[in-house]
Amino acid sequence: QVRLAPGSNRAAAWAALRDEALRCTRCPLHACATQTVFGEGPVDAQLVFVGEQPGDQEDLAGHPFVGPAGQLFDRALAEAGIDCATTYVTNAVKHFKFVARGKRRIHQSPTVGEIDACRWWLDEERALIAPHVTVALGASAARALFARPMPVGESRGRPHALPDGSAAWITVHPSYLLRLPDDERAAAYAEFVDDLAMVAAQIG
Ligand code: URA
Repeated sequence: QVRLAPGSNRAAAWAALRDEALRCTRCPLHACATQTVFGEGPVDAQLVFVGEQPGDQEDLAGHPFVGPAGQLFDRALAEAGIDCATTYVTNAVKHFKFVARGKRRIHQSPTVGEIDACRWWLDEERALIAPHVTVALGASAARALFARPMPVGESRGRPHALPDGSAAWITVHPSYLLRLPDDERAAAYAEFVDDLAMVAAQIG
């Protein structure tokens, strides 16, 4: 695990970790994806968000949450009073998993084995950043954080203790909101913003 000696440079340690992740072959997903999409944000962030995996646009751009889910997420953060520039955003799985249908690449959920194989990177990112609060966006991220299934519906709305003593919150993934029928989306989005506002209150 990353252990920072007093006075050592956290940003340099993070860059070394990211560079190592760019060469990751811990699971077969690296073979088809364009590139590793590592986490981004301040390395001393108090708040870390964990998504599921990069999507099509993130895979091409090499940055997390730049596609439609990321745009919805940014809007929800702003409405909850969270400055996205102060947060670190990463994913449970660092490579895009898809099936090709003609020219389209259709997202496939990662397996538990893929999430567990990739957890090493998330643990290293969190050990380095040492956030006060980590938020799992959806079930894959919750699985990665807790190393066991954590049903989103039953777990949201309150903090959970992580083994390192910090707090984790679990909420829905923004892609889930995008997939909801129009007549359900507004209420589900408002609940998502409420969850983020509770996190903002805990951070202070
Ligand atoms: N969905 C995720 O979980 N992560 C991303 O980076 C983009 C979409």
